[in-house]
Amino acid sequence: MPRRAWLYVPGDQERKIVKAAGLDTDVVCLDLEDAVAPDRKEDARALVARMVQELDFTGEVWVRVNPPDSPWGEEDITHVLTAAPRLRGILLPKVGAAWVVHWAARHLQRAEEEHGLPTGRLLLAVLIETAAGVVRLPDILQASPRVAVAIFGAEDLAADIGAIRTPEGREIAWARSQMLLTVKAFRRQAIDMVYIAYKDLEGLEREAREAAQMGFDGKQVIHPAQVPVVQAAFTPQEERITWARKVWTTYQEAQREGRGVFVVDGKMIDPPLIQQARNILERAGLLSEGEA
Ligand code: COA
Ligand code: MG
Repeated sequence: MPRRAWLYVPGDQERKIVKAAGLDTDVVCLDLEDAVAPDRKEDARALVARMVQELDFTGEVWVRVNPPDSPWGEEDITHVLTAAPRLRGILLPKVGAAWVVHWAARHLQRAEEEHGLPTGRLLLAVLIETAAGVVRLPDILQASPRVAVAIFGAEDLAADIGAIRTPEGREIAWARSQMLLTVKAFRRQAIDMVYIAYKDLEGLEREAREAAQMGFDGKQVIHPAQVPVVQAAFTPQEERITWARKVWTTYQEAQREGRGVFVVDGKMIDPPLIQQARNILERAGLLSEGEA
């Protein structure tokens, strides 16, 4: 399932939620955490549950709940899961330890039983945005097979470690790369940080392309204008698809003829390049994941 653009919408803003439902975005994530002020948390929770029930979203719907050790986390997840059949999953913010995943997984399991959904239908995403989250990521990912997605949060991480954000992002570069590698080691999806200067679409495009080149599967966005830019950056370009097709067909021929290594466009092609070609075709939706 491609999750190229992960669009946040404040959970207390009905107008924006309605607008988001009709957008051509892979994911809409209704937020109950930092986009909602403390005195509006309860209203937002009720609105989000109702909107998930009532609206038809183009893409997947996720909800970001408050952490379990906040005054709202328990109520958030309980109430939001009344709309479980229409939800793809729950996003857990500031995850720093495996117990948070266990807590959420128990709630999802119960909701599946109550609604007669198949076990494992409801997924979890974890926001890695604290030093503890980066360091304990292997445990967090392995805490449940429901953890399908990990998301990098640069702003909270900078706050947590006392870093000063710069346009170049050297202060968060190591954590961003480390997070990506760990997520890929456990074969989950990795979603890149938010580009908060939401009117600067050129800067966004540059950062989104870089993320796609690094291996991220998508990027968080906060404004409708960011969605097409990000979705395009995570969609393979025509020339890459042409190259990948050529590698793939030549590979099939080489296999029939018993050759391990071959040449395409004057460059040696061996198994790692065949895998790269496969990744491109998969991402472009031209190859099913099981196809050998
Ligand atoms: N989802 C859906 N619609 C959105 C939206 C979003 N995230 N952000 C803006 N819009 C809508 C606006 O409602 C407006 O629609 P309208 O003209 O029909 O009223 C239109 O898009 C243009 O919005 P604009 O005026 O450019 O932005 P704004 O000043 O209203 O809002 C932000 C700017 C940053 C506050 C807003 O984009 C936002 O709330 N983003 C999400 C923030 C969030 O969830 N943060 C937590 C996770 S990091
Ligand atoms: Mg955050």
